[in-house]
Amino acid sequence: KILILDFGSQVTQLIARRVREAHVYCEVHPCDVSSEWVREFAADGQLKGVILSGSHASVYEVDDKAPDAVFELGVPVLGICYGMQTMAQQLGGKVEAGTTREFGYAEVRARGHTPLLKDIADFHTPEGHGMLKVWMSHGDKVTEMPAGFKLMASTDSCPIAGMADVDRGYYAVQFHPEVTHTVQGRALLERFVLDICQTRADWVMRDHIEEAVQKIRDQVGDEEVILGLSGGVDSSVAAALIHRAIGDQLTCVFVDHGLLRLNEGDMVMDMFVGKLHAKVIRVDAADQFLGHLAGVSDPEAKRKIIGREFVEVFKAEAAKLISSGASTKGAKWLAQGTIYPDVIESGGAKSKKAVTIKSHHNVGGLPEQLGLKLLEPLRDLFKDEVRELGVALGLPHDMVYRHPFPGPGLGVRILGEVKKEYADLLRRADAIFIEELRSTLDPISGKSWYDLTSQAFTVFLPVKSVGVMGDGRTYDYVVALRAVQTSDFMTADWAELPYALLKKVSSRIINEVRGINRVTYDVSSKPPATIEWE
Ligand code: XMP
Repeated sequence: KILILDFGSQVTQLIARRVREAHVYCEVHPCDVSSEWVREFAADGQLKGVILSGSHASVYEVDDKAPDAVFELGVPVLGICYGMQTMAQQLGGKVEAGTTREFGYAEVRARGHTPLLKDIADFHTPEGHGMLKVWMSHGDKVTEMPAGFKLMASTDSCPIAGMADVDRGYYAVQFHPEVTHTVQGRALLERFVLDICQTRADWVMRDHIEEAVQKIRDQVGDEEVILGLSGGVDSSVAAALIHRAIGDQLTCVFVDHGLLRLNEGDMVMDMFVGKLHAKVIRVDAADQFLGHLAGVSDPEAKRKIIGREFVEVFKAEAAKLISSGASTKGAKWLAQGTIYPDVIESGGAKSKKAVTIKSHHNVGGLPEQLGLKLLEPLRDLFKDEVRELGVALGLPHDMVYRHPFPGPGLGVRILGEVKKEYADLLRRADAIFIEELRSTLDPISGKSWYDLTSQAFTVFLPVKSVGVMGDGRTYDYVVALRAVQTSDFMTADWAELPYALLKKVSSRIINEVRGINRVTYDVSSKPPATIEWE
């Protein structure tokens, strides 16, 4: 196993992710663990190496140091950024406070005399020096290496950008190998954990399940847990994982606000109750939600109502479980499918106190209001790791690789006032669109158009247009199809779907959904448009 000591960088979890990708088991712990703790951690003889992360602070602002035991264990140590500086200082080198920050892309000359950087280069200078394209973010720098170290990498502005004491297995880099902007970063971290630390690449997601299950059992003991299940990926995977750990001690509350996709509520129940045998309370609150939405057409007002009602309904159900519970003890925990990007977004990467229900609405404070302890078993994982975990837990591929669906659901896909009639029409049209996207394959990649798009859905426009069907005139509603490709949902391009696919979807919707007689395709990118229409 590898120990990652976290000095508070925003990207520490990325180091863990890279190590996991190399199929090596690792754990992230705060840098202020004691030397005794480190020795205890290593006592089983399995600890093969330590990585010291970066920090958002300077060695002159904070006095975080690696526990001395790290350098007494006889295992390789890799220092990254702040980790390099503290390594230099702790082993007798010198660090100077920087007057300027170096931030962003840099080219580093790599010295190939160490196993870490040997024969690795993105390009060569005319003189034949191997160069690495890296990402830097630092103010201070090492100006004197500790005894025993040799220069491993340098840039003009940072002459000691990497150093190594090969005999002791100590390596340090000023740049960040864990971010993708450092082209060889993955290779460097792999070399460190596999070749230098000599770990075995035998860790797989299945092992993560066992560890996570054990952790949940240790945390909750015999107490009961409530989880808000939305049908989205994160809450579904969290539910499946917690259910695997504690079975009937978990009760899921699934609030059906009447703005879900076609048959979605039944599919969630079939999966969780039918297949996993989990306890799920389905609250059919459609009338309540639609009642409160009547007459409201402003998008933000609609969002607020849906968010507020969601919290109300959820709280009422939770209160019942807290006061009585399935057993007489009552629930003590609220589980959330918070994943690592949510933790970073809410600024809680170090505080470990983030409380957001991301897939639905921000209900920060809910655990406190309900007097419940917070259980977040996915908070160290990235989205694709959550998906992989979901598959390993036996959730269906189609559920785990679903496009994102907004918390307010169809409420923001029916423009203006929300009515049950509109929602019913939209659900049927949308189901046809998604079905065709799933079944139409792109001949070049062999992938379905569902997998080739990041998000696709249908929007209901409450305007009527004239059409002709058979011998008759129609005067019916219009829908818009939306399909985008994006990597981060901050910017997005509309997808160039094949005409044949659009043609089929259009004719199926108009023929099969009585009440819709016109289908349009949205060709706006984001920005200036947004992905959703509201
Ligand atoms: P926009 O429309 O802002 O959407 O380009 C970006 C992403 O965010 C989703 N989205 C929401 N998700 N509650 C959510 O949980 C919301 O109110 C909401 N509004 C937009 C949207 O589906 C897209 O993936």
